[in-house]
Amino acid sequence: MASYDVIVIGAGPGGYVCAIRCAQLGLKTAVVEGRETLGGTCLNVGCIPSKALLHSTHLLHEAEHNFAHMGLKGKSPSVDWNQMKAYKDEVIGQNTGGIEFLFKKNKIDWIKGWASIPAAGKVQVGDELHETKNIVIASGSVPASIPGVEIDEKVVVSSTGALELPKIPKKLAVIGAGVIGLELGSVYARLGSEVTVVEYMDAVCPGMDKDVQRSFKRILEKQGLTFIMGAAVQGVETSKTKAKIKYQPKKGGDEVTLDADTVLVATGRKPYSEGLGLDALGLKMTERGQIATDGQWRTNIPGVYAIGDVIEGPMLAHKAEDEGMAVAEVMAGKHGHVNYGVIPGVVYTTPEVATVGATEDALKAEGRKIKVGKFMFMGNARAKAVGQAEGGFVKIIVDAETDRILGAAIIGPAAGDMIHELCVAMEFGASAEDIALTCHAHPTYSEAVREAALACGDGPIHS
Ligand code: NAI
Repeated sequence: MASYDVIVIGAGPGGYVCAIRCAQLGLKTAVVEGRETLGGTCLNVGCIPSKALLHSTHLLHEAEHNFAHMGLKGKSPSVDWNQMKAYKDEVIGQNTGGIEFLFKKNKIDWIKGWASIPAAGKVQVGDELHETKNIVIASGSVPASIPGVEIDEKVVVSSTGALELPKIPKKLAVIGAGVIGLELGSVYARLGSEVTVVEYMDAVCPGMDKDVQRSFKRILEKQGLTFIMGAAVQGVETSKTKAKIKYQPKKGGDEVTLDADTVLVATGRKPYSEGLGLDALGLKMTERGQIATDGQWRTNIPGVYAIGDVIEGPMLAHKAEDEGMAVAEVMAGKHGHVNYGVIPGVVYTTPEVATVGATEDALKAEGRKIKVGKFMFMGNARAKAVGQAEGGFVKIIVDAETDRILGAAIIGPAAGDMIHELCVAMEFGASAEDIALTCHAHPTYSEAVREAALACGDGPIHS
């Protein structure tokens, strides 16, 4: 049996990126993955397929609502749902195939099957026992349901089932106004479903900047999504093709029933480490079922590391990727570092929402003296030219004394790309003035970032 320097368990964004960096650093590396294709949840049933559907349905929405106004007359396209799903699958295939190519290029072995860890330095896959100096657990996460709601992936679906519905539901109920609920809710609203989102909290995307939450909800309502806020879902009853959602309004009163053809459960995800034999191995877990690590991705068992959704922190592909690269450096005897204070979060709706760093409310609650610069996209010529100026803005939060950027939030066109200017600024410890003094091309959406930075000082030009 071949022996390795590193065996990575799981080929999602954490695992595959880790493996590539290990190979680049000269470590003999293998990845164990039981799925038919590489890429994990993100590429197969998460980030990538949902973005393909968001793109197709965004174009449909543009054709139906904005083309005529821009002088593009004619019949709106009709939806061929099977072809739309086939397009999505093609995109998945290109990406998962790309990782297979990168594995070959970097001489990484793909051990096909499901792994367990009988002891430190040993990985069992089927009948084969592999020896390795280091093990990285990158086994990811799975959808988490709530009591009284059973996911059957037919009538009551998780994000996985929602990407493969046999037909577009007439009535879709979404439990949870988090990232998954709003992205996939948007997809189906654009496809003509009556979408109702039932959310326990009083605002969408809990924890996000309050201004963004308000604008975001308003914009989504305009796009046809209905929200029932402050509603605790108690359970879902299903027949073969229908569902009844029972929820309890938080403000009191009787339990309410909502009918739907399909229910999407988007109430969070939980770490996945089943079948790895971690109990028998004596691996320390947190109270929330995550693998406990020491800040350098080491578990309590020497030579066993863990990264990504299965450990603490936001369940985001790019956070896992960064940890994957950093842990590879650590195993190669170098220094691995992830700046957890600068991890962007993006919701890929239209408009996009992107945030980084601390929120205004969190900083105020800490008693920090801050200054907030805000600029509306209504003052941005480019956003107006593409019909995406309404309701959007850039907000930058700085330390009142030093002007150092502490956080930012953007709701508007290409927010998910624009946020990186602020991420880089934060990495460099920049002030808002640094951004304000940087020439920004005209006409671009990024000018709104500069204007928000100017708003932290003597004021923006275009408002
Ligand atoms: P989430 O944690 O973002 O949102 C779950 C929502 O469900 C919350 O608003 C919560 O208040 C609500 N909820 C929970 N129990 C409820 C109940 N009984 N009744 C009504 N509402 C209830 O979880 P989500 O959207 O499922 O996403 C899971 C993970 O995947 C997150 O960590 C997210 O960051 C990640 N993800 C990230 C994406 C991105 O970066 N674009 C895309 C998709 C997922």
